[in-house]
Amino acid sequence: MRNSPFTVVVLISGNGSNLQSLINRKISDKGTSYEIAAVISNKLNAHGLKRAKAANIPTLVIDHTRHSTREDFDAELIKEIDLFSPSLIVLAGFMRILTTSFVNHFKERLINIHPSLLPLYPGTNTHQRALDAGDRQHGVSVHYVTDQLDGGPIIAHASVCISPQDDAKSLSEKVLANEHLLYPEVVNWFAQGRVRLEKHRVHLDNKILPPNGFTFERAPKSI
Ligand code: GRF
Repeated sequence: MRNSPFTVVVLISGNGSNLQSLINRKISDKGTSYEIAAVISNKLNAHGLKRAKAANIPTLVIDHTRHSTREDFDAELIKEIDLFSPSLIVLAGFMRILTTSFVNHFKERLINIHPSLLPLYPGTNTHQRALDAGDRQHGVSVHYVTDQLDGGPIIAHASVCISPQDDAKSLSEKVLANEHLLYPEVVNWFAQGRVRLEKHRVHLDNKILPPNGFTFERAPKSI
């Protein structure tokens, strides 16, 4: 049992629906073990900032355009995040490529959610790429962040079926509904001390997970 609260800092760039799912889980499930210490955005107009303020969570904007190099921006970000001494840094639609120094600084405390069944489709435009490939399944993955883009050890994934009627928009909605269930669940696992990385392999409840992580199966409901 932990004595101090398990705090997370959430990094966003946009809508923040995943942030909202983390907030909602705290409200709907009193057994949820994490506290959101702060939300940091690299964009002043990110809608997620409004969601954080509505939930009385401290917010901060660090505008990347005011920094001449990626290293400068990441150094500022590290400094600000460290002020909260978070147990975990949660990337939730944070649209920045992070430097190796940033990733190393938060080693094993940095996770991301990516809208594909990794290792398929790292990078952007994942829904259209899955459709173009004629895939029958698509989904979402939560992974540790390393300096390989969307390439760190996978903690968990949830799949959705692609139907012949799907386009990129309908598919992204299906996937997002799963993201909103998966991410709070995984963050809560961390808060309960159930996840760890050992020799590049993810362990959940002291059991080694397969390379594509834990398979999350629950009927999606939207938030
Ligand atoms: C999500 O699809 C997430 O997987 C990806 O960026 C999107 C962010 O959406 N990394 P939101 O800002 O949480 O609504």
